[in-house]
Amino acid sequence: MAKYRSIKGAEDFSPEDMSARERVFGILKETARRHSFLEIDVPCVESFALLAAKQGDEIRQQIFTIEKKGDEELAMRAEFTPGFARAFVERSRQVQKPVKWFTVGKVWRYERPQAGRQREFFQFNAELYGSDKPEADAEIINLAIASLKSLGLKRGDFFVRLNSRKLLEGLLLRIIDKVKLEEVMRVIDKMHKLSHEAFLKELSFLPDKESSAVDDLLKLDLDAISVLELEDEARQGYETIKAIMAMLPEGYALFDITVARGLAYYTGTVFEVYDKDRKFRALAGGGRYDNLIEIYGGEKTPATGFAMGYSTLKLLLTHKGILGNPELGPDYYIAVQGDEWKEEAVRLANRLRKNKSVEVDLMRRNLSNQLKHAHSIRASHLIVFGEEEANTGTVRVKDMKTGTEKNQKIPDLI
Ligand code: HAM
Repeated sequence: MAKYRSIKGAEDFSPEDMSARERVFGILKETARRHSFLEIDVPCVESFALLAAKQGDEIRQQIFTIEKKGDEELAMRAEFTPGFARAFVERSRQVQKPVKWFTVGKVWRYERPQAGRQREFFQFNAELYGSDKPEADAEIINLAIASLKSLGLKRGDFFVRLNSRKLLEGLLLRIIDKVKLEEVMRVIDKMHKLSHEAFLKELSFLPDKESSAVDDLLKLDLDAISVLELEDEARQGYETIKAIMAMLPEGYALFDITVARGLAYYTGTVFEVYDKDRKFRALAGGGRYDNLIEIYGGEKTPATGFAMGYSTLKLLLTHKGILGNPELGPDYYIAVQGDEWKEEAVRLANRLRKNKSVEVDLMRRNLSNQLKHAHSIRASHLIVFGEEEANTGTVRVKDMKTGTEKNQKIPDLI
């Protein structure tokens, strides 16, 4: 029995897991670069005040704080948006807008672990600063769509569910009082995790008439909203959604009035990405937040962004059979025939390692066990190295898949 186990909600990545993860991250980074986003990095640890500013209680409670050593209150990042915003504020005078940054890294949240929900997990995160236009929202959403497509997901496998906080809040304020808005938004944000009955129960702090009006409101589609008399802000939210939709590829995004988003800083467009059946939790989420940069002490700057979690992505890609089963065996396994040739075999391995991955016997196994080992680690090719090979400078290379063998001069292998 192992004495220690990994902590709840944190996971190890085996070589196979790592290989799959690196492939996914490589594709995500490459896609971001094609959309002209630049990669940055920010610290894992920031001041608690920065991470908690403009956050609802739920997220604030999820932040892993670090025991105080001096007089600084530090914490682990629970998302990238605050760290990116701080980094942007520090450089906003030097950079040309719009600024488009991305990163991939670990974040930490004190949550109840479950399928697709961890305490330590990876996010791919992208932010765009400096434009308040629908084109900027569309740029972010287009990156989210292109990322999932680049990974091999197809139209109909997932949907971007798009909404506007301005529109939703405007519609809600026709029914409820402003002081109740935050609480109602919180209930809407989690409605898909609740039965309809439980959802209505959560709204029971409202008079019956109001809660059933809220319930009805959440059934509206864009056509139904188009004929309503809307306040200016709500109208603007509606128009923005229409404009964004026109800039997205067909069949990937839909309007969903129930998307509220849990984070407190959003001011306009919000979206979440789910697999088509909502079998898994959200793959990604994001939106516009036009006040945060100013709250962090920068000049008022519009901003929009999104983050995609690797945990849910991994579940969906595995479910679709896309994640694959990487072959990790070396290109060559060099078996040593005769102990006196082992030094030369190691030197040969080093020469081949210029271009190929090479494993050589490190256990002083006998030849037949070396051959078994080469099979079990799935080496692509086998070379047996001994006196004859050392003298002639020619080796017999066996293709382990087909069994074919051919003689090759060592310099030709390099
Ligand atoms: P979020 O919705 O909190 O948004 O997280 C984004 C994504 O991270 C989720 O859709 C999910 O895939 C993943 N995720 C969240 N919590 C967990 C968890 N406990 N375990 C595994 N995966 C998780 C944000 O983080 C915002 N900062 C996104 C953003 C960027 N908005 C504007 N810019």
